[in-house]
Amino acid sequence: MTNLIKIKNLNKTYSTAAGDFVALKDINLHIQAGEFLGVVGKSGAGKSTFLNMINGVDQLTSGEVTVNDVSIHSLSEDARALWRSKNMGVVYQSFQLLPMLTLVENITLPMDLSDNFHPRKSRDRALELLKLMELDEHAHKLPSFISGGQQQRVAIARALANDPPILVADEPTGSLDSITADHIFDVFEHLVTQQGKTIIMVTHDMALAEKFSRSLNIVDGQLVEIANASESIAMDHTIRMRK
Ligand SMILES: Nc1ncnc2c1ncn2[C@@H]1O[C@H](COP(=O)(O)OP(=O)(O)O)[C@@H](O)[C@H]1O
Ligand SMILES: [Mg+2]
Repeated sequence: MTNLIKIKNLNKTYSTAAGDFVALKDINLHIQAGEFLGVVGKSGAGKSTFLNMINGVDQLTSGEVTVNDVSIHSLSEDARALWRSKNMGVVYQSFQLLPMLTLVENITLPMDLSDNFHPRKSRDRALELLKLMELDEHAHKLPSFISGGQQQRVAIARALANDPPILVADEPTGSLDSITADHIFDVFEHLVTQQGKTIIMVTHDMALAEKFSRSLNIVDGQLVEIANASESIAMDHTIRMRK
């Protein structure tokens, strides 16, 4: 098994008017290629901060993150952005769609910027991804004309645009109804099992923990491995029964 992502002694402190706030404390973790890793935890625990360290969207305070032997925080901002466009799809918790572009244009843009696909092919691919997200009929609308859940699925389609080996998704089902959320989860599972992708997905839905190939819990900026999520849920149940 290859360790695709290595996180070593990672710390993140935010400087605020009220003083320093330690958001991540001494995190060490190896993520293997082909894992579907779930990261659960309460609101404010540090899940988004953790993802932003793995995708290099935000700076770390100390430690190192290497992806495929590239120490991503050692790269310049431009080099990191280019690296990300080729290696990682990112689904942001707040979607971050460009309001002046149609849905299909939002998805085509990262392909055209990275030059990974011929422009003629990128548009077809964008439409295919919209179809996968069951949104093809809305392709030419602006983001403000569709619902939050639909915008979230466009953000997922955009993250998949460059066909990256790694997908990092921050609460990608947070705005979806349960049927649509299940569909997205199936799409992710398919990407892992059939296409060999590696997915790191944050959710505050603890019930999902047992569905990942591995689950981690972030508690107050510290990582706690969930040994066997389904077992611990079963144990919980037993304890409750005895009371
Ligand atoms: N830019 C920032 N500046 C200061 N504090 C922040 C910033 N971003 C996040 N935090 C704080 O760090 C903690 C973890 O935030 P976050 O990673 O967004 O948690 P989660 O995604 O688990 O809800 C929270 O207490 C949050 O208020
Ligand atoms: Mg968050």
